[in-house]
Amino acid sequence: MERATWGIEDEPNDRQELKDYFKLNNRPGMDELLGHLSTNGYFTAPSSSQYHGCYEGGNLNHSLLVTETLLKLRSALQSDVSVESCIVCGMFHDLGKAGYYNKPNYIPNLLKSGKLSDSKPYSTNPDRLPIPHQVASIHILSQYIELSEEETYAILYHNGLYTPDGRLISGKETPLLMLLHWSDMYASRFLEVDKKGE
Ligand SMILES: [Fe+2]
Ligand SMILES: [Fe+2]
Repeated sequence: MERATWGIEDEPNDRQELKDYFKLNNRPGMDELLGHLSTNGYFTAPSSSQYHGCYEGGNLNHSLLVTETLLKLRSALQSDVSVESCIVCGMFHDLGKAGYYNKPNYIPNLLKSGKLSDSKPYSTNPDRLPIPHQVASIHILSQYIELSEEETYAILYHNGLYTPDGRLISGKETPLLMLLHWSDMYASRFLEVDKKGE
């Protein structure tokens, strides 16, 4: 049985990849979550204003690369973290960068000439209250699927020690958090460089 309606016949490769990940995931609410993704800008959101994934669809590409890296790391380390948790965290740790309360996290950075800035194509949406994107990710996800404590923790602290509140995880690291954090860093720093501006 086809699990979800995507609304288009010829799907781009990235959507097909996401669909394949969904097939590995039987959590109740995934179909409803998928429906939400189509309306909150998940497929078009950039991943940053001027760094990795700062182009339309950059956040989806980033999420796919993080998930792929996470699953490879899981296998290489023979971790007993579930594949389902890897997919939920890899694909949706940055869901909050898409629409939240109907407001995208990034908006086009237009110059006075009306052209999009080359050096910084997006700015942070000033209409959004400064709720961290990882908190928004958990909030949105929790409206559709049930997250385990470890998944919530991994998404909340996926930036690791790169943000001040990351100090709280010292001594309380979990395998899923470490797999997500390092996959996120590796993808954004090394796998997405030549994707910028595509
Ligand atoms: Fe993030
Ligand atoms: Fe990320």
